[in-house]
Amino acid sequence: MSVVRHAPVLPADAAALEDGARLLTAGRLVAFPTETVYGLGALASCDQAVAGIFEAKRRPRFNPLILHLAEADQAKALVHFDSRAARLAARFWPGPLSLVLPRRTDCSASLLCSAGLDCLAVRVPAHPVARGLLERLGAAVAAPSANASGEVSPTTAAHVSASLGDRIALILDGGPCRVGLESTVIDLTEPIPRLLRPGAVTAEQAAEEIGPLAGADETQPLRAPGQLTSHYAPNLPLRLNATDVGADEALLAFGPAPLSGAAETINLSSRNDLVEAAAKLFAALRALDKPHYRAIAVMAVPDGGLGAAINDRLRRAAAPKS
Ligand code: TXA
Ligand code: MG
Repeated sequence: MSVVRHAPVLPADAAALEDGARLLTAGRLVAFPTETVYGLGALASCDQAVAGIFEAKRRPRFNPLILHLAEADQAKALVHFDSRAARLAARFWPGPLSLVLPRRTDCSASLLCSAGLDCLAVRVPAHPVARGLLERLGAAVAAPSANASGEVSPTTAAHVSASLGDRIALILDGGPCRVGLESTVIDLTEPIPRLLRPGAVTAEQAAEEIGPLAGADETQPLRAPGQLTSHYAPNLPLRLNATDVGADEALLAFGPAPLSGAAETINLSSRNDLVEAAAKLFAALRALDKPHYRAIAVMAVPDGGLGAAINDRLRRAAAPKS
């Protein structure tokens, strides 16, 4: 009888970071915290390791991956890093922003990272564990969110362990993620920058550096597979902008006056704090996603600032599964 070995979940001290870097160098998969969500990392230059990401996530096809770097300078060897990229990097890196740029012909990253496109996404994360790992490795790490395909992104090591623990080598535990939503993705491959995914770096903040951004082009889904409508979805149906709630429903509340009568309630923020709400969103969706409820009713969340990113994820979670 074969016994599947479950990946150890290690507090991310210096010894664990060394282990992580060694395993990545050897082509193995290592999950690690970033300030946004947990990532499932593979050595970006290794075709076999990157292919392993898609296998572990059970991704139906090869979506492009974000390359994680210790320093902005490393991006220049991988992509054509133009002056707009430099301005955004100077202000927002390290931090929750990914930039899609034209791939250099001598780029060392596996072609699988680009999924057949001629561009590549890069980001310098801010989380000390991610930075410690990347600095020890000294190379780019391709990392999607560390969840099985179709699940909401993980914001704790326990989420990763439950979803992928039997398929990867190591999980570095750095506690719950501070931001809780995936990075903002901006496409800089065309003259007009385009917001592919809203996140904690808002479109307004980015526009202060590089001028107005176009919205995601829904007619070009292959350009941004993460923009496909149903992407961050619990199993239960979501009922958005609920103004009442049934006794057989779970309630995702927001604000000081949560609706009453739900079977179970989680309040994203009783003090109307969007930062707190973003950080709690994915863990709350996972916790409320129980088969004996009819649906998850979701109270309205205001759309300004980080609210745009929260509502983007809620709309996707509510969309019919494709
Ligand atoms: O916060 C994050 O970005 C997390 C952490 C781990 O860094 N990563 C993450 O990766 O969310 P993933 O694979 O779950 O989402 C990456 C998004 C997808 O929407 C993907 O389509 C888009 O970025 N993307 C990546 N490379 C791209 C490219 N070359 N062109 C267009 N979109 C790209
Ligand atoms: Mg993802």
